[in-house]
Amino acid sequence: MPDRKTALITGASFGIGLELARIFARESYNLVLVARSADKLRQLASELEKSHGTRSLILAADLSEPGASAYVLDQTTRAGIEVGVLVNNAGFGQYGLFAENDLEECLRQIQLNVTTLTHLTRLYLPAMIARMSGRILNVASTAAFQPGPLMAVYFATKAYVLHFSEALGNELQDSGITVTCLCPGATATDFHKRAGTTGLRLLKFGSMDAVTVAEDGYRGLMAGKPVVISGFKNWLLAQSLRFAPRRLVTRVARKIREQ
Ligand SMILES: NC(=O)c1ccc[n+]([C@@H]2O[C@H](COP(=O)([O-])OP(=O)(O)OC[C@H]3O[C@@H](n4cnc5c(N)ncnc54)[C@H](OP(=O)(O)O)[C@@H]3O)[C@@H](O)[C@H]2O)c1
Repeated sequence: MPDRKTALITGASFGIGLELARIFARESYNLVLVARSADKLRQLASELEKSHGTRSLILAADLSEPGASAYVLDQTTRAGIEVGVLVNNAGFGQYGLFAENDLEECLRQIQLNVTTLTHLTRLYLPAMIARMSGRILNVASTAAFQPGPLMAVYFATKAYVLHFSEALGNELQDSGITVTCLCPGATATDFHKRAGTTGLRLLKFGSMDAVTVAEDGYRGLMAGKPVVISGFKNWLLAQSLRFAPRRLVTRVARKIREQ
C-alpha cells in the first residue's frame, strides 16, 4: 500500500514500544522497528503483517552505541522510507547509589535515553521540515517531574526528555510538525525487572498496563498535545509536585524507591 505513512519506533520489541507498534499498525502505518532483540522484532513484524498487512523494516541495533542513530538513518534512506512519525521510546533505568553504580552502564543509560533520542530527532527533522509535516513522540516518565534518589541519573535523563520536547515543540510551532512527550508512571513491563527494581514500594500502589499507556500516547500524539501524563493518579501526582517544597519531594521520592 504505497500511500501508507511510516512510523519509526525505537524499543519496539517489548513493553510500551511493542504496544505502540501494534497501534500504529492498526491505524494503517508501515513500521520501522528498532531494538536489539531481532527475533522479537521479526515475530512482531510477522504478526502485524498477518493482522493488518503492515510492512516493517527491522533494524536490530544497540542504540546505546554512539554510531547507532546514523546507522538507523542510513538504513531508512537506503530503503527509500519517509519517516512520518518518529517514536523515541527505547530507554532503561539503572538503580542504586550513583557513587556505587557501574559507570559504563550509567553512561550507556545517558547515551540511550538522552543522546540517541536527541540525535535521531535531529537526523529526521530536516526531512519533516522540508515536507512541513511530521510527528515526534518522545517517551519520558513521571520521573521527569522530580529528582530521584537511587535512580538519580535515570530521573535526570527523563527531565531532559520532557524539557527538550516542550522546547522543541515550541520552536516548531506553525511548521506542521508536532512534538509530544509521553510521561507514563509505573507500568507493567520488563522495565523494572531489567532495572532490578521489582521490590520498590512505589509498585505496591499499582502499575498501569502498557496497552493503556500506549493508547494514551497515540491519542495525545495525534491531537498534537505537548505533554501526555498517562493515568489520572499520575497526572495528579505530577501536578502536586509543583507546589510541594523540593527538599520534601526529593525525600519522598527516595522513600518510595527504597526496596
Ligand atoms: N515501565 C515503566 O514503569 C516506565 C515508566 C515510565 C517511563 N517508562 C519509559 O518507557 C520506555 C519504554 O520502557 P518499557 O517500560 O516498555 O520497558 P521495557 O519493556 O524494558 O522495553 C524497553 C525497550 O527498549 C529497548 N531497548 C533497551 N535498551 C536498548 C538499547 N541499548 N538499544 C536498543 N533498544 C533498547 C528494549 O529492546 P531490546 O532489549 O530488544 O533492545 C525494549 O524494546 C522507556 O523509555 C522507559 O524509560 C517506563
